[in-house]
Amino acid sequence: MEEILIKTPEQIEGIRRSGQLAAKTLDFVGSFVKPGVTTGFLDDKIEEFIVKNGAVPATKGYNGFPKSSCISPNEVICHGIPSNEIVLKEGDIVNIDITTILNGYYGDTSRMFAVGEISPDAKDLIDVTKHCLDLGIEQVWPGNYFGNIGFVISRYARVKGYSVVYEFCGHGVGLHFHEAPQVDHTARRNSGEIMKPGMIFTIEPMINQGRSSAVVDKNDGWTARTIDKKLSAQFEHTILVTPEGYEILTELHE
Ligand code: MF3
Ligand code: CO
Ligand code: CO
Repeated sequence: MEEILIKTPEQIEGIRRSGQLAAKTLDFVGSFVKPGVTTGFLDDKIEEFIVKNGAVPATKGYNGFPKSSCISPNEVICHGIPSNEIVLKEGDIVNIDITTILNGYYGDTSRMFAVGEISPDAKDLIDVTKHCLDLGIEQVWPGNYFGNIGFVISRYARVKGYSVVYEFCGHGVGLHFHEAPQVDHTARRNSGEIMKPGMIFTIEPMINQGRSSAVVDKNDGWTARTIDKKLSAQFEHTILVTPEGYEILTELHE
């Protein structure tokens, strides 16, 4: 298996700065999310903001992906391709996933946004998914097993009556878009590799109202939807293992 990189202090600072820009881009684009806007328009705003800040959107051209972000509404689990044909409407929930390359360093983060007023069910799914990410992050400290991230996430999601997507995972990140290790969101306690200071990876649980299975769109080759068309939510942060525990590199601290 490919080894997990330990980043140098200089690399960590570079990835931190890229992560901060990705987080700022999410804040920026959030103000444009409202009924009637297209996901293509949001992607244009994202690209403009990233480029204006001296960075590059990592998704554009990545394995042929055509846009500067992934925008995934409602039953779309992940990898939604922004389009001028996709119009957000009142009551929708939508994940916006942004990965920046700043001075060669990658920062990767995503959040859910509500379009106008959303149903209590949709709100609950979003809240539980955010809590799943927070629980996963709390498992980050030197000496802990990567498997414990997925263990706590899947335990909590199931207690709340939701399922966890297992076909897409978190990943090492920083010098490349996707590095070792694969970070599973459902795993056995004390399984997998051991965390060490200087490792950087994402945690990005995708939580479904119904069945856990994903179906990738045959026409575009990217858009992953729930098999039963029920709602899916996701939050993502880029996390550094520190000597004391963790630092969230994609959380804004100003
Ligand atoms: N940002 C996504 C992730 O969290 C990856 C998107 S790859 C793309 O890993 F090609 F779909 F853009
Ligand atoms: Co990611
Ligand atoms: Co991402």
